[in-house]
Amino acid sequence: MLDRITMHHRPALEVIPELSAPFDLVFIDADKQNYPNYFDAVIDKVRPGGLILADNVLWSGKVLLPATEQDDATRALAEFSRKVKADTRVDQVMVPLRDGILVARKK
Ligand SMILES: C[S@@+](CC[C@H](N)C(=O)[O-])C[C@H]1O[C@@H](n2cnc3c(N)ncnc32)[C@H](O)[C@@H]1O
Repeated sequence: MLDRITMHHRPALEVIPELSAPFDLVFIDADKQNYPNYFDAVIDKVRPGGLILADNVLWSGKVLLPATEQDDATRALAEFSRKVKADTRVDQVMVPLRDGILVARKK
């Protein structure tokens, strides 16, 4: 099984452009500030019907704070959810499981 996993020990935004498409499933769970950038980096590589999952989109409820009280990570997560919601290339749903998982399916 391990022979089917390739670990990359570099910044994801450097690695993603080098990966061959299409992706069936993407799981975003790294540095929260880059969530919007990870979406942009993978969306064209995901096949129609493929899934993009993003963890921690509720961020312990902090995404509901007024924008003036949000730290950078929280602001980025809130922006990410708005961005995906507005993107007509995907259908999406936020699942309130644990810290919130956003599921986007490529049309
Ligand atoms: C929340 S943990 C991932 C947990 C894992 N997905 C799981 O479910 O067990 C976040 C990981 O993202 C890695 N990470 C943070 N910033 C990164 C970046 N810019 N590029 C690649 N990985 C990053 C961290 O080193 C850490 O291992």
